[in-house]
Amino acid sequence: MTAPVAAGARAWAAPGRVNLIGEHTDYNDGFVLPIALPQRTVATVEPLSGEPLSGEPRWVVTSAGHPDTMVVTVADLRPGGVTGWAAYVAGVIWALREAGVDVPAARLSIESDVPMGAGLSSSAALECAVLSALCDLAGTDLPIAQRPAIAQRAENIYVGVPCGIMDQTASIRCQAGHALFLDCRSGQVEQVPFDPASAGLALLVIDSRTPHQHTENEYAQRRAACEAAAAALGVPALRDVDDLDAALARLDDDVTRRRVRHVVTENERVLSTVEALRAGDWPAVGRLFTASHASMRDDYEITVPTVDLAVEVALRAGALGARMTGGGFGGCVLALVAETAVETVRSAVAEAYAAAGYASPTSFEARASAGAHRLASVP
Ligand code: GLA
Repeated sequence: MTAPVAAGARAWAAPGRVNLIGEHTDYNDGFVLPIALPQRTVATVEPLSGEPLSGEPRWVVTSAGHPDTMVVTVADLRPGGVTGWAAYVAGVIWALREAGVDVPAARLSIESDVPMGAGLSSSAALECAVLSALCDLAGTDLPIAQRPAIAQRAENIYVGVPCGIMDQTASIRCQAGHALFLDCRSGQVEQVPFDPASAGLALLVIDSRTPHQHTENEYAQRRAACEAAAAALGVPALRDVDDLDAALARLDDDVTRRRVRHVVTENERVLSTVEALRAGDWPAVGRLFTASHASMRDDYEITVPTVDLAVEVALRAGALGARMTGGGFGGCVLALVAETAVETVRSAVAEAYAAAGYASPTSFEARASAGAHRLASVP
């Protein structure tokens, strides 16, 4: 039996994302260009009725994917106070309260169709759906521009994952039919029309089905290497490297030089991709995707054989460009493909995976979808 919906209940959807280009640039104060996916997380919140008027609030949380009901109390609102999936919810409540929002006691129920562990930002979708729904319930006028950083703090400090600002900004600020051109230093955004279908193209997302083992460690190491390189070069962040050759000449180890080269050239590729999209130059977009992949593979060293194979085979089967998207070490590959070649690319990748003994890849065509929004009715 389902419980009756309480007066004042509301539901917010927040999407997962794929990043078109600009990988590992966000924590270097650089540029990124994500789109929101149609796959999304929905958080339904309602005031907890029957609570004593005095006394501390609490939050009762259920998720369609998990059998347990979690109860979050004020005592849990310290980093690490709750672990597992509910940490993302508790972290958002904690971060909102730290930002001065009086979060009312609530019942929250969560549902999601964002694949987990595929590099499509299921965590950010959860954080942003909960954050948006609780802001609505609290009646706060917290500006949209400030919300992604609050969700990011929940993940960085409460959950303990050192991610940048891209995923949460994408989940909150993307618009349907557009890619979000984000300057991660200023937080300034520009909506860039993104409609490959208008040119007879599709953006195919191929899930390599490779689990993200050891990803967090590797991610933290890349981040630390960039910060150390910026310090050695005397700049606030790698975004500020203007003369790449001069910077490389000042660094003495090869690994650091390659990390810096990835970040600096990747920032340039984001700017070039925005130009190419504005000009409707899809072949150039494809070439930039492929160059980005080579840079992640050879300089940043965050790809794995399954994703490299998907990229290679997609290109051989006629894709205009292909690259891994997201943090790396598995996850998804994007391929920009003529609509007429989608099936050819899909089956070529599936055959190559079978021949290599890899798990069969899954794929879908992504359309640039809406960022976080309130649903007209409660599910
Ligand atoms: C993960 C992080 C993002 C970003 C990407 C790489 O998705 O959460 O902040 O750093 O990796 O571009």
